Amino acid sequence: MKPTVAPFPATRLRRLRRTPAIRALVQETTLSPGDFIWPVFVRDGEGVVEPIPSMPGVNRLSVDKVVEAAREAYALGIPSICLFPYTDPSLKTEDCAEAWNPDNLSNRATRAIKDAVPDIAIMTDVALDPYNIDGHDGFVEDGVIVNDRTVEALVKQAMSQAEAGADIIGPSDMMDGRIGALRDALESGGHHDVLLLSYAAKFASAFYGPFRDAVGASGALKGDKKTYQMEAGNSDEAMRLIERDLLEGADMVMVKPGMPYLDICRRAKDMFGAPTFAYQVSGEYAMLAGAGERGWVDGEKVMLESLVAFKRAGCDGILTYFAPAAAKILNG
Ligand code: PBG
Repeated sequence: MKPTVAPFPATRLRRLRRTPAIRALVQETTLSPGDFIWPVFVRDGEGVVEPIPSMPGVNRLSVDKVVEAAREAYALGIPSICLFPYTDPSLKTEDCAEAWNPDNLSNRATRAIKDAVPDIAIMTDVALDPYNIDGHDGFVEDGVIVNDRTVEALVKQAMSQAEAGADIIGPSDMMDGRIGALRDALESGGHHDVLLLSYAAKFASAFYGPFRDAVGASGALKGDKKTYQMEAGNSDEAMRLIERDLLEGADMVMVKPGMPYLDICRRAKDMFGAPTFAYQVSGEYAMLAGAGERGWVDGEKVMLESLVAFKRAGCDGILTYFAPAAAKILNG
């Protein structure tokens, strides 16, 4: 659609910006707490709130504190919370067996939240990196991240999450064929209504640095993730990945990171019209929160401006560490 503009002075576009009331009437895109998925980091213990230095304002929480966070989120109108476990280094192994332990941290947190806040949608992460001694999202054999054996493990991991009560499963691993394999396993296991939110277009990004600190994967990671995550310069490839995942049974798709990749979000929404999400990742959060903390930018304003940009770019929702802070402001 081409916007029409009559010549001046028939059109004075500043008329539409004159007062807050008029600006509110013609605002094209709005933000609400219902747009957010809040990622939280879970650790063991009780009553633990452990700050993450590279993510000011974000903490690792023990399960009881995660339940409190879920209660707070639900009261603020945030529909979903996403769990990322910080796994004790002693539980990281080459076979990653902790990933499908029915009593691992993520599954314990899921059950506890389901009990206490049954109406919040719980999203869980499918990938081996929190459990892998090599820090990679897949198994490593002779220095190569192997695909098909990893997919079998991801299926076991996702099934344990579905059995614990996860509503949305988020495969963040970027292996080929995992969406189809997960969908088949969920269907044959009777989990017909479990949603798959595919991290379909996930780029090999330096913006994940603080997250890897948060889940304790930074020290473990050998090499980079470029044989499975995407090259920053590629956009057609992102469309192919998104189409592929939708055809394999993804209900929703994600672009990640967010702010440097808004063109991918817009293109994906225009091309497929599927529920489209973006992940405003840890490094994006760290830049905005860190600069806000120092008074170099107005932290609240850059937060809200960065979030509405995702909506304008076509996203239906945003995974963001700012979820509760933004929701509080939006709720007045
Ligand atoms: C790994 C995973 C990562 C993030 C979510 N899941 C990091 C990575 O791929 O190394 C990053 C999230 C963030 O930076 O906030 N499965």
